[in-house]
Amino acid sequence: MAIRKIATVGHPVLREVTRALTKEELRSDAVQRFIDDLVETMRDAAGAGLAANQIYEPVRITAIEVAENPRYPYKPNYPLTILVNPVVTPTTDETFLNYEGCLSVPNLRGEVRRFTAVRVRAWDREGNDLDLEVKGLTAGTFQHEVDHLDGKVFLDRVEDTRSLTTWADFERFHKAAFVERAKALVAKHGS
Ligand code: NI
Repeated sequence: MAIRKIATVGHPVLREVTRALTKEELRSDAVQRFIDDLVETMRDAAGAGLAANQIYEPVRITAIEVAENPRYPYKPNYPLTILVNPVVTPTTDETFLNYEGCLSVPNLRGEVRRFTAVRVRAWDREGNDLDLEVKGLTAGTFQHEVDHLDGKVFLDRVEDTRSLTTWADFERFHKAAFVERAKALVAKHGS
């Protein structure tokens, strides 16, 4: 396994619509090793998720894991999940304003509108069918990661650019209010 370099905003690979994999490709040693690297790189950088094109491979794979994350201490834990060829469908019209950050957008956070519940259909890393219903803040994480696979970054969805903030100023000026909203969301949706 290896820790890979993470692409930052401006690199064209983050704007690529990633390519779906066949089951044969997925089961190859090369792709299985790549998934190990994706997970190791995500954990090393303390990300809540990492999409393949963030480490320069424009294929439709993303990892998600929240385990007492220091970057997002208010996020409920979520077990390591590998999504291959994911499709996300909202299951509600209800939305919330998520204060997002991204390993590919250093030292910037901003408010992004996300659905509070989505259905996610994908394969796991072995090619088995996954069909998940994800709610609350966790639903925001899934929408953020699948956006990457469609060549989008959270900046594209920031409605009010006045919400943009460095991480230090998020702590000083925005965190308290957001954590209150996040807690209410988690209480309502259980995640
Ligand atoms: Ni991101």
